Formats: sequence, C-alpha cells, structure tokens
Amino acid sequence: MKKKEHGFSGSIGFVLAAAGSAVGVGNIWRFPYLCAKDGGGLFLLVYLVLVLTFGFVLLTTDVAIGRKTKLNALNAYGTLRKKWKFLGYLTFLVPTLIMTYYSVIGGWILKYLSAYVVSSGNEAAQDGYFTSFITAPVAPIVFMLIFLAFTAWVVYCGVEKGIERFSRIIMPGLLLLIIGISIFSLTLSHTDSDGTVRTGLQGLAIYLLPDFHGLTFGRFLNVLLDAMSQLFFSLSVSMGIMITYGSYVKDDVNLSQATNQIELFDTGVAFLSGMMIIPAVFVFLGTEGMASGPSLTFISLPKVFEAMGGLGRIIGIAFFLMLAFAALTSCVSVMETLVANCMEIFHKTRQQMCIMVGIYSLVTAILICLGYNVLYFDLTLPNGTSAQLLDLMDYISNSFLMPFISLLTSILIGWIVGPKWITDEVVKNGESFPRAGLYSFMIRYIVPVIMLVLFLVSTGFMKL
Ligand code: PFF
Repeated sequence: MKKKEHGFSGSIGFVLAAAGSAVGVGNIWRFPYLCAKDGGGLFLLVYLVLVLTFGFVLLTTDVAIGRKTKLNALNAYGTLRKKWKFLGYLTFLVPTLIMTYYSVIGGWILKYLSAYVVSSGNEAAQDGYFTSFITAPVAPIVFMLIFLAFTAWVVYCGVEKGIERFSRIIMPGLLLLIIGISIFSLTLSHTDSDGTVRTGLQGLAIYLLPDFHGLTFGRFLNVLLDAMSQLFFSLSVSMGIMITYGSYVKDDVNLSQATNQIELFDTGVAFLSGMMIIPAVFVFLGTEGMASGPSLTFISLPKVFEAMGGLGRIIGIAFFLMLAFAALTSCVSVMETLVANCMEIFHKTRQQMCIMVGIYSLVTAILICLGYNVLYFDLTLPNGTSAQLLDLMDYISNSFLMPFISLLTSILIGWIVGPKWITDEVVKNGESFPRAGLYSFMIRYIVPVIMLVLFLVSTGFMKL
C-alpha cells in the first residue's frame, strides 16, 4: 500500500482545514436549536464538559491514527490489527452517506442567500416558504448543483492548493462575520404590542444561565445524549474524515496543540452561533420562537431578519454567506475523504476520482432532493421520530454508525492495541501531552460504556 507524503504545509494549514471540516451547519444551525430546546445554559455546560473529555479523546484518536499510518480509514484500521479491517469499511460508509445529503442542505443555504441578495428577503419569512422550496421539483436540484460544483472544484485542486488555501481565506472571514453578528444581536431590543420589552441581554442570560428547574434524571440524560451526538457531528469524528486529514499532517506538527486549537475553534464558533441566534430569536419571537427546533435557521431566523427592518437584509446576507462558507468547508472534507479513499482503492489520480465521486454525489443528491416530492415517504425511525430520505441518511450515519464506530474504536485502541500506541504518536517529537492520563482512562473505561448507551438509545433498544 502506498503511504502518503504530507499534504498540509504546516500546523496552521492543518488546523484551519480541520476546523473548516468541524465548523459547519452543525455549529450554526444544530447547536443553537438544541441549546434552546435543552434549557440554554444547562446544555452549554454539559456540552463544554463533553468537549474537554470525549471530544478531545475522539479527535486525538482519529488524527493520530491518520498521521501514524499515513493512510485513510479504509486501510488504516487493518494495519492496526488485520482482523479489524472491517472497521475501516464501516467508517468509510459514513462520509458515503453524508455526501448524499450535505450538498442538498448547502443548496438550501444558497437559495436563502440568493433571496437576500436579489431582493429584500422578506418572502423567506412567509409561512410555507421553506416547505414550498424544498418540495419543488427543480429549484432545490439547481441550488444543490451549484454548491456541489464549488465543493468538487476545491477538492479537484488538491490538498494544499485547494483545501488548505481555501480554508485559510474562508475561516478567518467566517470568524469575523460571526463575531460581528453576535455583538449586533446583543444590542437588539423589541417592544410587543402589549408593551412587553425584550432585550438581547435578557436573551443572553437565557442562553448562558443553566436552568435547573424541574430537572429530572431522565431529562438530564436526554440533554447528555443530545450533547453527545452533537459533539460527534460537530467535530467530524468517527467518520474517517479526521483520519484522512491527519494523514496529511507533517511529522513535526505538535498534535496535542493542534487538536486543542481545532476543539477551541469548533466550540468557539458553536458558542458564538448560540450568542448570535438565541438572543435575536428571543427578542423578536419570544420564548415560543426558541422552541422551533430544526426549523430555527430556515423558518424562525428569516422572521427575525424581517422584524429588523432595512438592516435585516444586510444581516441576512452576512448570516447566510457565513453559513454557506461553513457548509462548503465541511462538504469539502466529506468529499475529500471519499476521493482520498477511492484513490487508495482504485489507484487512480485525484482528478479521475474527483469526477467519479462527483457523479456519485450528484446522482444521490438528486435522489435526496426528490425525497421531498416524487420519492416522498414517511418512515418512523427506531428512536420514534418520523423521517424521509434525508433524515434516514442522517439517522443511519449519525445516530447508528457513529456511536457504533466510536464504540469499536475505543475497544480496539483501549483494549487491544493499547492507548500508548496513540499517546506515543502525540509525543513523538518530545512534545508535552498534559492530558495523556485522561486520554488513556477515557478511551478504556468511559468512552466504550457511554457509546454503548448512546448506540442503544438511538437505535431504540433502550428507553430513557
Ligand atoms: N462537522 C460538521 C458540522 O458541524 O456541520 C458536519 C460534518 C462535516 C459532518 C463533515 C460530517 C462530515 F463528514
């Protein structure tokens, strides 16, 4: 098997590209609505503890496996133990499934961006706008196509000239936009027709202060599991992506420092997204608006922008532009992982594999778009939620495969290969690894148990 030479120019290139993968719609769309649903500060607190423990363990494991083996997930696990090669195949399945729908969501974002660019965007705030767009036969496919073409172009250009260069421009821009909008969000205030005044700072308090009112053990477990599945998705771990990116990292890069920076970037953006969205939704739509769940970004936020008057259009453009950047760098990482794995399987060039993966992505994404009209079905998932095609792909990859892969990986590393295999890679140039003890303990005892619970709950075998 041909091992890769490094691909990123250095630590910063790697950190920005990996942060580009991690920071995506999960941070800006999913994190705030889970936070609003799960009691603001309580979710935030649980999430932060999980990032510093689980997040760090899973991210370090993926990146170290990648750098040490210089292979993609498909072959990397087999080099650890021959019998565990199957785990590589399982891991490869995750980006294969995610690729089918991520560009569809990217297309939705581009549609909203265009609504604010070409007109006031107020039509996006009308009831039924979102549903009538995603159920239309042609428009979602056209926007998905534009998004996919951008993604494929970046991957086609290669690791350093495409992914790294693109991330170096986009990620700082994204950070500036999000900081700007969050500060603006805190300055908002609104008076209802009955004279009730709500301010951004009150919204901030709801976001930050944990609400322990009526907290039961069952509810706490629900918050914990929500936070845990968010963590996987958000950090792009247990899906081979960070193994692929890790395989492009030079041997002299300080891995412990780099993973800390990626975690900080990812969590920082999620935190700022909450700060940007929750106070604004609270000010204009009240606490009921915050309970809107997944529709927060595509249905509630446009109403917030409309309520802001003239300024709403500018903020709308800035917001959806930022979301498009975030989604693009994440989608690039999914496609790169597929292309890199296929290059290893078929021994063909990046460009040839890019075309092949591009065609796969296009065909499957069209099917996902059609899942909202001609291919529509309504399925009840084992965890009790109802789903159509996109939700089904999301469920299999995030709720089923990811906890299962993490469970198996923690058994492989914790009990068969030994955590030292990973910690040695992290400190191989004499770097310090202050959390090495925590890493070894977590990967052996805590991660397998919690992953098993998460897996059983999300597959409906265990009820809370
Ligand atoms: N981490 C990305 C986010 O938070 O949106 C999502 C993601 C990227 C998921 C890449 C999966 C993936 F393969």
